[in-house]
Amino acid sequence: MEQKLYIVMVGLPARGKSTTANKVRDDLKKDSVRVKIFNNGDLRRKLITNNTSYAEFYDPKNQESADIRERISLINLHSAKSYLRRGGQVAILDATNASGSRREWIASQLDEHPVLFIECINNNEEILEASIRRKVDTPEFAYLGLDEAVKNFKKRISYYLNIYTPLKQERNIIRLDTLNKKVVHEEIKDTIPYYDQIRDFLVTDSVRHLYLVRHGETYFNIENRIGGDSDLTEKGQDQANALGRFFAKKEVPLIFTSSLKRTRQTAEPIAKGQKKCTIIPLPEFNEIDSGVCECMSYDEIRKNMPDIDRARKVDKYNYVYPNGEGYVTMKERITRGINKVLYLSDISRNIVIVGHRAANRMILSHFLFRREEDVPYIYIPQNKFYYISVTQNKKLFQLMKYR
Ligand code: F6P
Repeated sequence: MEQKLYIVMVGLPARGKSTTANKVRDDLKKDSVRVKIFNNGDLRRKLITNNTSYAEFYDPKNQESADIRERISLINLHSAKSYLRRGGQVAILDATNASGSRREWIASQLDEHPVLFIECINNNEEILEASIRRKVDTPEFAYLGLDEAVKNFKKRISYYLNIYTPLKQERNIIRLDTLNKKVVHEEIKDTIPYYDQIRDFLVTDSVRHLYLVRHGETYFNIENRIGGDSDLTEKGQDQANALGRFFAKKEVPLIFTSSLKRTRQTAEPIAKGQKKCTIIPLPEFNEIDSGVCECMSYDEIRKNMPDIDRARKVDKYNYVYPNGEGYVTMKERITRGINKVLYLSDISRNIVIVGHRAANRMILSHFLFRREEDVPYIYIPQNKFYYISVTQNKKLFQLMKYR
């Protein structure tokens, strides 16, 4: 008999449930599995024309709205059942499913096939804030100002917190730290179809269309100076404009930069060429901190600090600048930055990162295996970018000219 499965998502709002559900769906589809998502929020927006974005709609004491939400959940549950009856193989129920009693009820209704509960967890305040800001920057919240909408959404979360209990009693459980893509708790009592694939999808970093760009030429670049916070030269500005023209033919909802001027200045013409685009500066993508050598040229380092120059040549990856960083010590923050990018982005859409030479080497080596000793020598030019597409089954890296 054909194996069928229900996946039930669990977690507070803005914890990465839909991103995770979409990823599992897309990856299973690539394996020719018939899979469909039943999302309560989407159904609510479709069926209820009245405004349902205000926080009190989610107050468990608000009987009228609780009934509406209950009904929506029931419709999706029946649609999921009938989908599996009609030939579907995996039905994903995407909603908060925050309380134990709600989950018990769902499990009792879905009794003809195994049920796998996937709970999405993320308690990183900074990234939650950024994620909420992105969520409320939509037509549904347009009637409120951005800050008001954020407040409102946080209140909605607090209502869910009152009834939320983490997975524990359920038969088949995966608890996932969605920011770090780490399974923090796993307990499987039944035979779960497609489990090997799903378990692997959950912890793998996938990007469909990542454009890794280095900032345009700066005044420091002309003088071969390192570090600092220099502006783009005229040529650098031309390169940024050329990037703007290149990306104008594509849709780029998000651009991630470092917090340094040269990456912001390179990103701006790209953002200008878009209908709707947000630039998110991440200090995690700042250039290597060269400590006592900041703002010096390579010639000056060779002449005035020959020990540093020599030591760096012996083992460039592990060498750490006095009072600064080395490639080895950048690894942790760069990984943190990549995790943020993947958490905040819709991975099926274009993502642009504008970074620096050393930072981009580290970002690239996160997706493309390189021996550590070779990482500090990866070629990162200013007139080309890396196009990266990575999934379970495919790794594509292309160094492409944009002008
Ligand atoms: O020269 C530009 C630059 O981005 C510097 O700011 C940085 O220190 C350097 O490249 C990193 O490259 P490398 O590790 O090869 O010196």
